[in-house]
Amino acid sequence: MKRDYLMITASLSLAAVAYMFGTAAADELPKLKEKKNYKVGFSQTESNNPWRLAETQSVKDEAAKRGDQLVYTDAAGSAAKQVADVNSMIAQGVDVILLAPREEKPLVPAVMAAKKAGILVILLDRRVDPVAKPGVDYLTFIGSDFVDEGKRAADWLAKKTNGKATIIELQGTTGSSPANDRHTGFVEGIKDHPDMKIVASQTGDFARDKGRQVAETLLQAHPDATAIYAHNDEMALGAIAALEAAGKKPGSDVIVISIDGEKDGLQAIADGKLACSVECNPRLGKKAFEVIDKYAKGEKIPTWVKSDDRLFDDSNAKENVATAY
Ligand code: AHR
Repeated sequence: MKRDYLMITASLSLAAVAYMFGTAAADELPKLKEKKNYKVGFSQTESNNPWRLAETQSVKDEAAKRGDQLVYTDAAGSAAKQVADVNSMIAQGVDVILLAPREEKPLVPAVMAAKKAGILVILLDRRVDPVAKPGVDYLTFIGSDFVDEGKRAADWLAKKTNGKATIIELQGTTGSSPANDRHTGFVEGIKDHPDMKIVASQTGDFARDKGRQVAETLLQAHPDATAIYAHNDEMALGAIAALEAAGKKPGSDVIVISIDGEKDGLQAIADGKLACSVECNPRLGKKAFEVIDKYAKGEKIPTWVKSDDRLFDDSNAKENVATAY
């Protein structure tokens, strides 16, 4: 008997062996029964900026509207805590987990653990490493095209500067999908402009004060910089403060461009300090719950439910301040 068991397991792949001890098959998504109300887990990565708060609010509002039970956790900027948060949701027997993963690689085991326990995962706003596959390991990714955001920012800057800029880049959280992709898209966007160069690139962790500190240091090292590309509005606003502290005029001495479209960002555009912000819509709650309903009904879900994002500059920022988050 023991020998037979050993022979069977030896002929199986590692993944199949792992899944033998869970409830989900290695090659298929967990099922979801149609119900009037679901118990939904939402694992948020941190709550330190308006973008995150708007995303959380949209998920809470939609759950409340539907009368669904929401199990909410905030990983406070720690990937290790976020893995523990997901494990706790699994232990609490939620029907679905909405996961906003802080970083690409460290959250893969959380996705796999949920699948093994037969719990459906939907990635919200950020991706995990592609070893975990949509439609196989998790249902879908709901969010923006971060590569395109970076490319659109670069195209806008190229047009504004006639293809001539000495650029400081403030990157988002190291290892997160928006930081990786926004860098890739921007580099792609400037590659045909030989006079557009990134002279320094450092993380500001998507946070305003960190962005200010990093911009201050990089501006001292590169006083000839003519543009700052920040991966989000919060860091751009920090960079604007650093420029003003250094006696430079944002908007004329140095052009600042960014991504998100938050209220303070749009106001800064209206004030002439921020030049443009490519929208990244955080209000993903409604879409997430619609996807849950559709999947439970047996409808086919695309592997990417893509946001349709705008671009804000001095042509449209002012009229959008009131409705921004
Ligand atoms: O994942 C989206 C990014 O995360 C937003 O651009 C940023 O503001 C947030 O923290």
